[in-house]
Amino acid sequence: MNILLSIIYLISTITFIVGLKKLGHPETAKSGNLIASVGMGLAIVGTIFINDIEVPIIIYVLIGVAITIGSIMGWLIAMKVEMTKMPELVSLFNGFGGASAALIGVVEFIGNDNISGTKATMVATILSAVAIGSITFSGSLVAWGKLNGSLKSVIKIPQYNIINNLFVIAIISFSAYIVMSGSDSQLFLYGLLGLGIVYGVLFVLPIGGADMPVVISLLNSLTGIAAAITGVLYDNMVMLVGGILVGSAGIILTISMCKAMNRTLGSVIFGSFGATAVAEEGINKSLGTIKKTTSSDAAIMMNYATNVIIVPGYGLAVAQAQHVIHELEELLVSKGVNVKYAIHPVAGRMPGHMNVLLAESNVDYSILSEMDDINPQFANADVVLVVGANDVVNPAAHNDPASPIYGMPILDVEKAKHIVVNKRSMKAGYAGIENELFYNSKTSMLFGDAKEALTELVGELKGM
Ligand code: TAP
Repeated sequence: MNILLSIIYLISTITFIVGLKKLGHPETAKSGNLIASVGMGLAIVGTIFINDIEVPIIIYVLIGVAITIGSIMGWLIAMKVEMTKMPELVSLFNGFGGASAALIGVVEFIGNDNISGTKATMVATILSAVAIGSITFSGSLVAWGKLNGSLKSVIKIPQYNIINNLFVIAIISFSAYIVMSGSDSQLFLYGLLGLGIVYGVLFVLPIGGADMPVVISLLNSLTGIAAAITGVLYDNMVMLVGGILVGSAGIILTISMCKAMNRTLGSVIFGSFGATAVAEEGINKSLGTIKKTTSSDAAIMMNYATNVIIVPGYGLAVAQAQHVIHELEELLVSKGVNVKYAIHPVAGRMPGHMNVLLAESNVDYSILSEMDDINPQFANADVVLVVGANDVVNPAAHNDPASPIYGMPILDVEKAKHIVVNKRSMKAGYAGIENELFYNSKTSMLFGDAKEALTELVGELKGM
């Protein structure tokens, strides 16, 4: 390989690793993203212009047109997308990654005049790209449809587990047959592509509810593996390393999200999260009565508190109330109140959602506390203000073995002396289940849009 290109690939690889490391903290995430993007740009330019192959000019033109269209579309979508729609976008982009890996596999198979004479390991690599890429492509599109609401959350066909397992066996055996027989049949290739696409759909259809982020992360990691396989195909070091990094980071994220919800990967894939959930939209009298409060009463309570813990959730993002919550926190601190934010790992709709949101309003990172650190502190909190959070503070995770979220670690809000919950109604959260915290005798409900309610609260506090 050209020595200059090797150096460029080495630099790119280093930028990927440094970028990934920096993505681990909200303060450095932006620069990490930029560094890795520059490295990727460098690798693309190097691959196109520094090579020993005679490339007709038309190919350069086609590549240029594709890159320009893709970049403009990507830029426009990324500029427009709302924070809450980010998981959908990730899922869609992920699907495109899978599709390109599958297409590369197809091109390599049908473009090779001597596929039956090609080494079995190479054919197996090509077929892996086709199978994994096609599964990721269709699975990601189904996940995208579920997240944007165009598909039902959980769709289970009878005996779906058995059918899905049969598909896995079929894909592996069929690929093995093509490799062993040395066949160059395009019909077989498209058959494998079809099997992969159908399996991707069947795999994601029964999964729903709070398991969706886990599946997206798993599919993301599969895209990385597919990219690494194409790196092997083209003997391209940077593609291989980039794919491995995405694949392994995706698996680590998948496992840590499973841990945060106290679920195994197997139970996510074959489990039934959300299936038994009942979305109650009104007050459930069997759970008791709820106590409503006003912003002036909540302000008095907080004004005289020593320790206040704020629990942000998805509703804070919907209301875009991150700036006013920061104003509230600063106001309380100026009155001598100790304020902390309790961050649940799956609060919101994407990993790190609350951190990103609060970073937008420049909340000091030192007062953001992770679940394990803050849970022992709830007993000392005079007031806990829950803003647009529901599932992550639902005691059913501790108390109700029949609940679909049973066993998921939650923020132990109910241990606090007083709890103020702000949301618009009694509607359920993402998991679609009742929350007995709202009926707790220590809880007062402050109904209203988070931005409006917090603005009123700030106004009341300013007057005290
Ligand atoms: P949720 O359980 O989804 O509850 C959010 C609550 O916010 C809702 O009950 C809603 O009630 C309220 N809300 C919505 N808009 C509001 C507004 N404008 N003002 C005030 N309140 C508003 O949120 P959570 O507690 O953050 O839990 C997250 C859930 O999403 C978990 O089940 C998690 O597993 C799942 N999930 C997480 C991720 C990641 S990785 N973070 C990704 C996908 C799914 P009203 O409608 O009554 O206002």
